[in-house]
Amino acid sequence: MAGATPAPAERAEGPRRCVVFGGSGTVGRALVAELARAGARVGFTYRQGREIAEDLLRAFPGTTALQVDLGDPRGAAEAADALARRLGGVDAFAHCAVRASSVEPPAFDAIEDVTFEGFADVFAVNVTSAFAAARGLLPHFDGGGNIVLFGSVDGIKPVPSPVPYAASKAALSGLTLSLAKSLGKRGIRVNLVAPGVLEAGASRMLPDDLRAEYLKHCGLRRLGKVEEVAALAAWLALENTYVTGQTVMVDGGL
Ligand SMILES: NC(=O)c1ccc[n+]([C@@H]2O[C@H](COP(=O)([O-])OP(=O)(O)OC[C@H]3O[C@@H](n4cnc5c(N)ncnc54)[C@H](OP(=O)(O)O)[C@@H]3O)[C@@H](O)[C@H]2O)c1
Repeated sequence: MAGATPAPAERAEGPRRCVVFGGSGTVGRALVAELARAGARVGFTYRQGREIAEDLLRAFPGTTALQVDLGDPRGAAEAADALARRLGGVDAFAHCAVRASSVEPPAFDAIEDVTFEGFADVFAVNVTSAFAAARGLLPHFDGGGNIVLFGSVDGIKPVPSPVPYAASKAALSGLTLSLAKSLGKRGIRVNLVAPGVLEAGASRMLPDDLRAEYLKHCGLRRLGKVEEVAALAAWLALENTYVTGQTVMVDGGL
C-alpha cells in the first residue's frame, strides 16, 4: 500500500535488530535464540546470569550483551540506548526481565511483609525499566517497529500471586495500551504477551497446591512451554505489522 510504514520484515537491507531486556531469563534466553535463529541481530541484558549470557554469545555470533541492574531507570534507559547503538538502530524491543517478589520466600498473602521499598523495587524492574527502555529507544526506531512487553495471567485474572507482582503486571497492560496509542503514528506497534503458568521460570515461586489448582482450570490441562511463549513473542517482534495495543494470553485456556 502506497505511503504505509514499512514493516520490519520488509526492511530492504541488513538483518533486523532486536533489543531484549532479561535475555538471561528463562523466556528471555529462548527468545534471544529464536530471534537469532530467524536471522536477527540481538542485543540483550543480563544481571546475575553471566554464564547464560556467555553461552548465548557463543551460540549466536553477532549477538551482543550488557550487564545492568534494571532497578535503576536511568541505567535501563542507558542500556537500551547502548545496545541500540551497537546494533546500529532497532526494529524490535522485548522486555522479559522480571522481579517476581520483593521478599523471599514470595509473600502470597502476607501483605504486612511487603515494604514500600520492596513494592517500589518490583515496579522499578517490571514496569519503569520497560518505559525507560521504550523512551530511550525512540530515536533508534528509524523505520518503525515492534515493542513486546510481558504481562501475566496474574495481572488480568484474580489468581493468587504476590501483590506487587500482580499489580506490576496489571500496570504493564496499561503501559501497553497507552504506548500503543502514543507510538502508532511513528509506526511502532506495542503488544503484551501474558503467559499463564509455564513449566519453568518465574512460576518457580508458585506453591505445588496452586500449580495443581491451575491445572484443574486450564483447558489444555498442562503447563505452558517456554518455547511456545518465545515463538509468539518472536512473531510479534519480527513479523507483526498491524496488531497493536493487544494482550495475547498464552494460558492454555484458563
Ligand atoms: N515463567 C512463567 O511461568 C511466567 C508466567 C507468567 C508470566 N511470565 C512473565 O514472563 C516474563 C519472563 O519470565 P521468566 O520466567 O523468563 O523469568 P526469569 O526466568 O525469572 O528471568 C528473569 C529475568 O529478569 C532479569 N532480572 C531480574 N531482576 C533484574 C534486575 N534488577 N536487573 C536486571 N535484570 C533483572 C534476570 O536477570 P539475571 O538472571 O541475569 O539476574 C532474568 O534475565 C516475565 O515478565 C514474567 O512475569 C512468566
